[in-house]
Amino acid sequence: MDQSRTLAPLPAEPPPGCPFSPPREYTKLRVEHPVSRVSLPDGSWAWLLTRYADIRGALSDARFSSDVNAPGFPRSGMVTAGEGSSLIRTDPPEHSRRRRMLTHSFTVKSVSALRARIQQITDHLCDEMEEQKRKDGPDGSVDLVRSLALPLPSLVISLLLGVPYEDRDLFQSITATVLSRVNTEDERTTARKELRAYLSHLVASKEGDPGDDILSELVHERMRQGQLTREEVTGTATLLLIAGHETTANMIGLGALTLIRNPHAADELRTDPSLMPGAVEELLRFHSITRSGPRRAAIADVEVGGQLIKAGEGIVCAVASANRDPEHFPDGDTFDIRRRNAQHHIAFGYGVHQCLGQSLARAELEISLNTLLARFPELRLAVEFADVPFRSDMLVYGCHALPVTW
Ligand code: HEM
Repeated sequence: MDQSRTLAPLPAEPPPGCPFSPPREYTKLRVEHPVSRVSLPDGSWAWLLTRYADIRGALSDARFSSDVNAPGFPRSGMVTAGEGSSLIRTDPPEHSRRRRMLTHSFTVKSVSALRARIQQITDHLCDEMEEQKRKDGPDGSVDLVRSLALPLPSLVISLLLGVPYEDRDLFQSITATVLSRVNTEDERTTARKELRAYLSHLVASKEGDPGDDILSELVHERMRQGQLTREEVTGTATLLLIAGHETTANMIGLGALTLIRNPHAADELRTDPSLMPGAVEELLRFHSITRSGPRRAAIADVEVGGQLIKAGEGIVCAVASANRDPEHFPDGDTFDIRRRNAQHHIAFGYGVHQCLGQSLARAELEISLNTLLARFPELRLAVEFADVPFRSDMLVYGCHALPVTW
């Protein structure tokens, strides 16, 4: 029997009229059916987990695999094509071996050393925003996504990886295709192949002409020693380039918009920037932008929240629901920069695959938001809030554009 016919689809988001909220169904599901079966876009089905404790438990349980080729892995409606060689889709011990080769570049210490450079890039982008506004006159507006939110993390990850920033149009537009819910699986696969071809060429060029960057290091210290294949280096480069710019870009945009909508919080942060790290955690919790959820396939029978999940069945972890779970975050639908346990959010995932770039993302968010608050105290929307184009058509939530003025 095709059981998916009787199932509800994955809840749609955002709910009508409420662009900052995850689907309303989550509130009911957490109480009544915290582990419920949902149909996916291709008609297959998976278990949807909505409670904080269940999701943390599942993401740290080795009986759930990240391998897209594991039987029952919920591939439909997520980024999968061509990911086979990427570390995010491998399980320990192979995952641990591959991750260890990268961790030193993304530690808190390595990122601290980058902060001055991130500030410099941010200042330069803000200078350009002012220049554009001066040219356009008092009625002019600036798209904060195009001027700051997208270029900042794109520049930083290009610099770290050794990807020429002149090629940003290529990697930004390919990423947009790969992460679109609207494009077909074929379109996304083609786009991903294009990015891999570009990066494979770049990896080859690093063999003869190395730079002081992560890709050159992987080629010369790992590939040449036989620890990584060329295919694996290209897979890692693809993952880092996509994950390294698009996610943070959306958080910077949503972060700025949230502060525009909460002027009291913005004032507090302007007066006392030491509150910013806590505010960034709260923004990450509140928005939880990776909306297609970490996904896994059970490789053994596992009980989660009283529900038996059988080997060969898939799970979708609704982190946006977990991060609003009142059992863990009282009054979780309220944005509160002084929330005491905001840093317990799982917006960066949990367990062995927890986001490798989280320190970098935090630094970029803190620096960009502090700078915006200091330099543009009058920052406001140049359109009605209802007219902001939110990314409900994308796998990573945010705004397509954010027209602002001051
Ligand atoms: C993994 C979110 C920024 C690189 C993850 C996961 C999440 C996530 C939820 C776990 C996926 C899973 O368990 O299946 C975010 C968010 C970001 C962000 C919300 C920004 C606000 C970054 C940046 C980089 C990055 C800047 C790159 C430098 C990665 C990598 C993984 C990952 C490589 C895979 C780690 C592994 O499998 O061991 N991210 N990320 N992310 N992220 Fe991020």
